[in-house]
Amino acid sequence: MIISAGADHGGFELKNKLVAFLRQEGYEVIDNGTNSPDSVDYPDFAQAVARDILEKKADFGLLVCGSGIGISIAANRFKGIRAALVTNDDYARLSRQHNNANIIALGGRFTSYEDAEKWLKIFLSTPFEGGRHERRIEKIDNI
Ligand code: RB5
Repeated sequence: MIISAGADHGGFELKNKLVAFLRQEGYEVIDNGTNSPDSVDYPDFAQAVARDILEKKADFGLLVCGSGIGISIAANRFKGIRAALVTNDDYARLSRQHNNANIIALGGRFTSYEDAEKWLKIFLSTPFEGGRHERRIEKIDNI
């Protein structure tokens, strides 16, 4: 499984720790940066990760900005991208079961590493339930 990762200056430290964790677990990771505290614009990194998924270079995405809000809003501008801002165990699970989310977005300034790793593991191991949820996702794509 290939994961595309991206973050701004508010999220790069958490992103880097999660990238290291994913590689240690055997995932292939495309790291789109950023990799320093210098100020950057989160839409650039949302776009890089969204494109990796839509071009099938990656199966899932990981995006981190300060709050997770801006970077998830930006990623969700792309048709076919379902970026979920995850703030607890249930959101990690439900974003996959009901929404077939293909990007997990996290707030680097508000999320401990331990929680982030746990939510990422839940996200990557939970299958989409399909059924009635498939119809709803098709409706999103048709908006
Ligand atoms: C950057 O300061 C901050 O605005 C950004 O990381 C994010 O929180 C935006 O939603």
